[in-house]
Amino acid sequence: MATENQSGPSGRAFSGIQPTGTIHLGNYLGAIKNWVDFQDTTDGIYCVVDLHAFSVPREPGEVGAATLEAARDLLAIGIDPERSILFVQSDVRQHTELAWFMQCSAAFGELRRMTQFKDKSESNDFVSAALFTYPALQAADILLYDTDVVPVGDDQRQHVEFTRDVAQRFNATYGDVLVVPEHYIPPAGARIMDLQHPENKMSKSAVSELGTIFFTDSESDIIKKLKKAVTDNDGEVRFDPESKPGVSNLLNVLAVAKGTDPVSEAEGYSQYGPLKADAAEAVLEIVRPIQKRRQELDDGDVRAILADGADRARAKATEVMDRVRGAVQLL
Ligand code: TRP
Repeated sequence: MATENQSGPSGRAFSGIQPTGTIHLGNYLGAIKNWVDFQDTTDGIYCVVDLHAFSVPREPGEVGAATLEAARDLLAIGIDPERSILFVQSDVRQHTELAWFMQCSAAFGELRRMTQFKDKSESNDFVSAALFTYPALQAADILLYDTDVVPVGDDQRQHVEFTRDVAQRFNATYGDVLVVPEHYIPPAGARIMDLQHPENKMSKSAVSELGTIFFTDSESDIIKKLKKAVTDNDGEVRFDPESKPGVSNLLNVLAVAKGTDPVSEAEGYSQYGPLKADAAEAVLEIVRPIQKRRQELDDGDVRAILADGADRARAKATEVMDRVRGAVQLL
């Protein structure tokens, strides 16, 4: 069981990220920062979920190249291969094998209700069957490692709930086989919003490049993006996401970056300019060391870490998959 003490949850933590472009501030503050922090108290397994990326059309080689970059990002951000396992989903074949059993335990109706499916099926011309069964593969990812806690951004809450439901349904039929995980969603910062359209989540596919801060952005771009962030006309610095979404987002960025809270940050400002400048400085303090580490990691190092991670992940996944095979009593 995941238990929370003052320093955070304990037990096994598992999470995953799709290799679809460079990591941005929203991913980092919304979820990945917790992966790094949790390394002090949990036994962490972190996965670049390359197979999930094929649920929408891809060119040959595109996902592979992005997988290496995502792994490099995670290492630069602070996933420490000495303390955690970092690996690529397709290197451990048990993921697709368990995904089949998860599809068999998932109800059509429950998959149809997934908001990520609804959004993605509307925005893609070709809607693959995999886009629909995507949460079953995600459930397999999590359940293969006897995971206690899944640190994710707020948008993944529904998928983790789904994982719990299918695990419980599987257990009801086949015995106490799968560990039922809990999600961990950070209280603030889970939703860092787009700097130009603060009603939308910060995302890599934003309408305007100015809305998203990427870890690969230069210092001057980061300062520019925060300077141009959309605010409002009443000139008052106050944390009120409903009526002041832009300003509240800036306060949130500042607070999460510094590990404080947005309401008390607001007390320190009477104008938008200084708030933007301080938010930029707080972001740069995070970004600078990450960019430096990113440059120091060559392809060979990253590949070696992933190969070792796959070996360690496979050992655990094999154990759980064997348990599942035994429980369903294949011939
Ligand atoms: N669906 C997640 C996302 O889009 C990625 C993901 C796949 C994941 N498998 C996972 C996250 C397992 C947590 C645990 O961000």
